[in-house]
Amino acid sequence: MTNVTLFDHPLIQHKVAMLRDKNTNTKDFRELVTEIAMLMGYEATRDLPLKEVEIETPISKAKVNMLSGKKVGIVPILRAGIGMVDGILSLMPFAKVGHIGLFRDEKSLEPVEYYCKFPKDVEERDIIILDPMLATGGSASAAIKLAKKSGVKNIKLMCIIAAPQGIKKINEDHPDVHIFCAALDEKLNENGYIVPGLGDAGDRLFGTK
Ligand code: PRP
Ligand code: URA
Repeated sequence: MTNVTLFDHPLIQHKVAMLRDKNTNTKDFRELVTEIAMLMGYEATRDLPLKEVEIETPISKAKVNMLSGKKVGIVPILRAGIGMVDGILSLMPFAKVGHIGLFRDEKSLEPVEYYCKFPKDVEERDIIILDPMLATGGSASAAIKLAKKSGVKNIKLMCIIAAPQGIKKINEDHPDVHIFCAALDEKLNENGYIVPGLGDAGDRLFGTK
């Protein structure tokens, strides 16, 4: 698992534990997803390039480091990925946002595409694909394929809970993509849900069940 960063930060672990609890309500669930995404985003943006610039403090001139202006994009997989957008945008308000609409066919578990819109200059951007759940990996792999087809070269995947099958699929299909996840769970059940997981992320975020 060379291209996986698994977060062990106590704040992230605590918030993921609350997220898993079936008694956590929709409002708290949404807030927790935002907070976890922001904390993960801090690490996932560690390689953003800096440039040295000269500014003046109230005391003297100073050479300081600022972001070099590298173009970044974030791409949530609809629906559940939307929950992670605000957390990342609070760190990088300059990022452009694309959207990929995919749902899993309930029987085959294969992803079905229904929407795709990227920023105009997406091929010039490094992108982070967002989805709280990496189960079979089918949705994330399809999303990465769409981004590559549009010319994106540098892609990261950020999920909150991953199953071993999902990590394996991304490693096999897209070995160049680094995965950031907050928890690695045991397995998938017969319906393709992550065990212990947190249930259906989209339904819990939007209160649709
Ligand atoms: C969920 C989740 C991922 C996908 C993960 O979405 O948000 O996109 O399942 O499963 P996979 O790794 O096996 O592809 P879902 O299809 O339930 O759609 P929704 O977000 O619209 O509810
Ligand atoms: N999608 C979800 O929302 N939850 C799972 O456990 C698996 C796929």
